[in-house]
Amino acid sequence: MTTTVNTPAPNPQGLAGIVAATTALSKVEGNLGRLIYRGYNIHDLAKTSTFEEVAHLLWAGHLPNSAELAAFKTKLAAHRKLSPAALSVLQALPKTAEPMDVLRTAVSADGATGEISGTPTLDQAIMLTARIPVILAAFARLRSGQTPLESRADLGHAANYLYLMTGEVPSEAQERALNAYLVMLADHGMNASTFTARVVASTQSDLASAVVAAIGALKGPLHGGAPSKVKDMLEEIRAAGGKEGAEKWLRGQLDSGQVLMGFGHRVYRTVDPRAEELKGMAELASPQEFEFASYIEDLALRLLGEYKPGRKIYTNVEYYSAVLLGSLGLPGDFFTPTFASSRVAGWTAHVLEQAANNRIIRPESDYTGPETAAFVPLAQR
Ligand code: ACO
Repeated sequence: MTTTVNTPAPNPQGLAGIVAATTALSKVEGNLGRLIYRGYNIHDLAKTSTFEEVAHLLWAGHLPNSAELAAFKTKLAAHRKLSPAALSVLQALPKTAEPMDVLRTAVSADGATGEISGTPTLDQAIMLTARIPVILAAFARLRSGQTPLESRADLGHAANYLYLMTGEVPSEAQERALNAYLVMLADHGMNASTFTARVVASTQSDLASAVVAAIGALKGPLHGGAPSKVKDMLEEIRAAGGKEGAEKWLRGQLDSGQVLMGFGHRVYRTVDPRAEELKGMAELASPQEFEFASYIEDLALRLLGEYKPGRKIYTNVEYYSAVLLGSLGLPGDFFTPTFASSRVAGWTAHVLEQAANNRIIRPESDYTGPETAAFVPLAQR
């Protein structure tokens, strides 16, 4: 008789370096600072394309031609409405609720109406992607005592979001800036929220459940929750004396074991290409904010080099996202939800990819508890 020994698999903390799926959607080359979506370099996409083109690229596998884009935009625009279920949820939640919690709850309500049930489909992905900015803007207005606005079919996805949020049609430069942001954040390999969505999809659950779970994963400050924390950090440094008090403030954080928000990345061991693009855009959008943020960035990088020598910590995508999104008039607590309104394209594309070639994602754990424990009945414990 042979005995099978269960040798524990390698277990690096945080699954670093583990390949969890195959994907044709995006590739992150951390050492080169290169990101591609289906072969297209992020720098080219960010400079020239719209969110709609990139969502089409991720979902359909190719960049749309003019006719395809027009048809796709019409379809997306047709779904830019608040469902009665989502509206009731928004009205029932306290005005003080965190927008990420509101988004998660409203998407969950939409998932309970039966519209997004069963096997995930592309139409459902389009519907969810169209609805997320509408949900966000409706909550932004409701919490400040205003009535939500109706979407405008003549505006693109980015412009309509800004219109719904601010009540004003954005300038061409503002629309371009938000498009570039939405394009750059749409997908990023096996990041935590995408992995979460794929795990849910792998159980043959539905698209709304996968997106609700992904929103929950994105919310954390080590993932998508960082940009509002970057904003808080910059504000705290200003309050603590601005440039003059900055080094003391940053050292205080590092001395007490805190991380500096907007720096470091699991995969990038060089400059994040999205951070580079966002930095240039933030400079154009808000020169004064940029000047301060860039001073703090240089200082933070110098201190991170001193405190964490050899760790290769660079500025991440969240740092200048905070400056850019703030310059577009979005409140700080809407930075991460705006990230979600972009990443939903990636999440849903990954769910469809997982569903098309599925095996349940079910890893193992390395048990560290005792092997044997003598059972003691309740009355004798
Ligand atoms: N500030 C201070 N120290 C840091 C930072 C930082 N921003 N980033 C990494 N480090 C430290 C780690 O604590 C670790 O220290 P140690 O070796 O003494 O234990 C060392 O540098 C190496 O860390 P990594 O292995 O590179 O980091 P990890 O992969 O575990 O975490 C993460 C990556 C979570 C993004 C981390 O860099 C971090 O917490 N950054 C700040 C939060 C942030 O900006 N999040 C947004 C990320 S981008 C995104 O998700 C879209």
